[in-house]
Amino acid sequence: MALETLPLLTDRYQRRIENLRISVTDRCDLRCFYCMPEDVEWLPRKALMSFEEIERVARLAVAAGTRRLRLTGGEPLLRKDLPRLISKLAAIPGLQDLALTSNATQLERLAPSLVQAGLRRVNVSLDSLDAENFHSLTRRDVHAQVMAGIDAADAAGLRPLSINCVVVRDRNDHEAVDFARLARERGFDVRFIEFMPLEHGSHWGTDVMVPGKELLERIGEVFPLQPDPDQDPHAPSRDWVFADGAPGSVGFIDSVTEPFCSMCNRIRLTADGKIRTCLFSLREHDLLGAVRAGADDEAVTDLLHAAVATKEKKHHITDGMYVKPDRTMSQIGG
Ligand code: 5AD
Ligand code: SF4
Repeated sequence: MALETLPLLTDRYQRRIENLRISVTDRCDLRCFYCMPEDVEWLPRKALMSFEEIERVARLAVAAGTRRLRLTGGEPLLRKDLPRLISKLAAIPGLQDLALTSNATQLERLAPSLVQAGLRRVNVSLDSLDAENFHSLTRRDVHAQVMAGIDAADAAGLRPLSINCVVVRDRNDHEAVDFARLARERGFDVRFIEFMPLEHGSHWGTDVMVPGKELLERIGEVFPLQPDPDQDPHAPSRDWVFADGAPGSVGFIDSVTEPFCSMCNRIRLTADGKIRTCLFSLREHDLLGAVRAGADDEAVTDLLHAAVATKEKKHHITDGMYVKPDRTMSQIGG
């Protein structure tokens, strides 16, 4: 069958898979306490997908109906020559959106070349606006470098600029209003993410998970909010704008308390080329193995369809049937 006539990637629950998140490395220069231990063993270099392998898979996924690509890590900007991959991906016909999730430590240096390569926007992961608290959460004293990276991304026109903040009770929930103020002052889209049990170690618990609703109330008391009239129904976040017309927005990714599984339109590819159909998947599909064994385009496309067909209906965090995957976010690629 010619590739163009294949049905678009759709799972058993009629969810159209339009979003592919590709991890380009499991390495990171931070050690966010919930994500990584201080000493980690990285994947060997040859286990990582090459840029050529990534481009081929991305091209086939787009031909099968994927519209949006996001590069993740670990920290994707630690992958050497990332702008070269960006320009390859930006050239894929039919691709509507190419984005990057980064911790911003390397953005000051790289923002201009990323823009030149065709990147349009970036999501920065940032859990604290306070240098000391940032150090305590990430085990690295590089808050100023990260803020400079955000400034550089902003100056380079990587817009809209989103800030993703994972909220953990008594560690950074007291900063919620400060993040909302940053959104207003800089015109950023701040997204608060409920802490999910995907962490390294055993930090998670319903006691440290702060429901998005609680943050919405706290922020709304200081800065009155109204629902974002441009809300994207497929976005994982529920977004709010400032009632007084200030720029920027705040949004809440309430993965635990308000799961959005029924609207989920994404799959993931790990840095070592395994398809994960859900963040919480317990099994993976070895796409890179097939690619390296010589699979032709049709076989790779078939594998994409077969994987999508196994996409889980929903996660089980709150129904007592939850089993934590044995990979952390840095290995899965948030
Ligand atoms: N729960 C929620 N978000 C997480 N991230 C990493 N681990 C978790 C977790 N357990 C976030 C990172 C980053 C994105 C890639 O995923 O902080 O913003
Ligand atoms: Fe690095 Fe992201 Fe993990 Fe923090 S959460 S250690 S920035 S991969």
